[in-house]
Amino acid sequence: PPPTVYEAENATISQGVVESNHAGYTGTGFVNGDNIAGSYVEWTVNAAAAGTATLTLRYANGTTANRPMDVAGTLVDFPGTGAWTTWSTRSITVPLTAGANLIRATATTANGGPNLDHLAVTGP
Ligand code: GCU
Repeated sequence: PPPTVYEAENATISQGVVESNHAGYTGTGFVNGDNIAGSYVEWTVNAAAAGTATLTLRYANGTTANRPMDVAGTLVDFPGTGAWTTWSTRSITVPLTAGANLIRATATTANGGPNLDHLAVTGP
């Protein structure tokens, strides 16, 4: 089955804003998290059954510095994409429980995270 897409602009946002000034996003915009460690986006992901899921985060980073985030306990690098209008993806696998799972992406450095467009979930 195709992935289920959860837009960042519809998620819970702590210390960030929804914006739409850089083209190429899906949905109605993206999240620009504050440039601090600890800013986050949290999605509620519904799994039909317990098992391993692939989480794919779509992002843009118009700087040349990596903007790492802790994504559900995994440290994920978000290197520069060349422009704020150039979007790329990073994927990890995580275990999910049946039903609702909170998936939080938290900036781990003072630069904050990248701009986040959406979370796409495949399986279980
Ligand atoms: C620029 C850009 C924002 C981005 C920010 C950042 O201001 O326009 O979209 O979030 O840089 O460095 O995080």
